Amino acid sequence: MDEKQRIEQAQIKQVNAADRKSGQDKPLHEKTSADFAKYFETTYQPPNINKARKRGREKIDVHYDFDIPEDMRTIGEGKKFLIRTYGCQMNEHDTEVMAGILTEMGYEATDDTNKADIILLNTCAIRENAENKVFGEIGHLKPLKLENPDLILGVCGCMSQQESVVNRILKKHQHIDLIFGTHNIHRLPHLVKEAMFSKANVVEVWSKEGDIIENLPKVRHGKVKAWVNIMYGCDKFCTYCIVPMTRGKERSRRPEDIIQEVRHLAANGYKEITLLGQNVNAYGKDFEDISFGLGDLMDELSKIDIPRVRFTTSHPRDFDDRLIDVLAKGGNLLDHIHLPVQSGSSEILRKMNRKYTRESYLELVRKIKKAMPNATLTTDIIVGFPNETEEQFEETMTLMEEVGFESAYTFIYSPREGTPAAARKDDVPMEVKKQRLYRLNELVNKQSAESMKSYKDKTVKVLVEGESKKDPNVLAGYTERNKLVNFKGPESAIGKIVDVKITEAKTWSLDGVMVENTVEVK
Ligand code: 5AD
Ligand code: SF4
Repeated sequence: MDEKQRIEQAQIKQVNAADRKSGQDKPLHEKTSADFAKYFETTYQPPNINKARKRGREKIDVHYDFDIPEDMRTIGEGKKFLIRTYGCQMNEHDTEVMAGILTEMGYEATDDTNKADIILLNTCAIRENAENKVFGEIGHLKPLKLENPDLILGVCGCMSQQESVVNRILKKHQHIDLIFGTHNIHRLPHLVKEAMFSKANVVEVWSKEGDIIENLPKVRHGKVKAWVNIMYGCDKFCTYCIVPMTRGKERSRRPEDIIQEVRHLAANGYKEITLLGQNVNAYGKDFEDISFGLGDLMDELSKIDIPRVRFTTSHPRDFDDRLIDVLAKGGNLLDHIHLPVQSGSSEILRKMNRKYTRESYLELVRKIKKAMPNATLTTDIIVGFPNETEEQFEETMTLMEEVGFESAYTFIYSPREGTPAAARKDDVPMEVKKQRLYRLNELVNKQSAESMKSYKDKTVKVLVEGESKKDPNVLAGYTERNKLVNFKGPESAIGKIVDVKITEAKTWSLDGVMVENTVEVK
């Protein structure tokens, strides 16, 4: 840390014990940075797996009293904001929350950078190329800031949880006014105010996760499908993954809060929800007073009048029989399961600390298929983990076929600072990794195309999301098994579930025609 950064850090007010105590009973919106001191041991902490592993079982409080402070409720009137989102659905959903907060502060959304008064980059740290994209964008935004010094440029999301990133921005990209972490989203009103009136950069990154805040406003993207967080953080510590450090320890939302949110979405006409968490199968493991897991939650949600319920992302280790039993009942619980395997080699899985073997994964797949014979399985795979041998890679290829995954997100391993795998010597040349990715992708494409072909001439239920991006005369939506379908149909079908007869199967999507009379007339 250099002197300039020490000065920046001093902007996070330090507190004494008396202040800390007095903050405990205040409503959330009256709290200052000082009241949250317990969460930031220091700002500039590199991700540290040993420390993270030792994180304790401190009690997580749930707050229901988020409010925008009086003096910030109109601060954005006549002004506009733009948020660029990188990475996973969790980030997309965080963006919806930040949009909700800014809207309550009087700001309006825009997608034109020239018209924006605040631009936030909600970043992803999972692989190096995600980070490079963000640094590219930070560079592109500089001329805007030079033209309009009142523009507030902010960086948030997983990248800002990393010391090296914060340092690099402070040193090399001084046009960035505001940096805040994934645990600081509810502090946005205060941070925007500080950025408006402060001459120096505002940095607030809590290295330690905070409480759960329930009543944050949201501006959802679309009126048909919605994301619902069920838990935050991850305690699995896969050796390649930065997420347990950027998102903190596992904290589950209370079932009643989730159920109420889903009921509310159903009442507002939403047709599909996706339950979100880094490892949704660990849902409820942190409850001390009740025994209530993902299976129990899904069972409750199956009673709500909403046509489709999905969940992501699953960890094979925690995928239990109770969940399989509940999913097998069907109804609104869809039998498309995204089950990241990462590798087909037990030895690589051990080095990844995945806590399952090729055999136990296949056993889980057998159980799922037995209970749900039509289940669709998709996965995530990493190729080129340090020292992966040709034989070990071949095991991934054979597993891909053996399970019959209908599609897969595939990645070349990317070393992440602070993770155990990044410290390993790696003897696999990048050219070899690229070759393996290419071969794997060929297989993924083949299996996807085959699964698509099986839909030819069949009629599927499609939740219609809107017009196709390529052709406004064509509508687009997804089947229960998450296949994209493009078809000709009336605008009145948007937001409804309609029958579509498939006429053509492509590698990644289906074309079809709507079966008449499936849009109910009101
Ligand atoms: N390098 C490459 N891929 C990664 N993933 C997570 N960390 C890394 C990494 N360091 C992949 C995993 C995970 C998905 C979201 O991203 O496959 O399931
Ligand atoms: Fe990362 Fe997922 Fe592993 Fe958690 S379970 S450490 S999010 S890959």
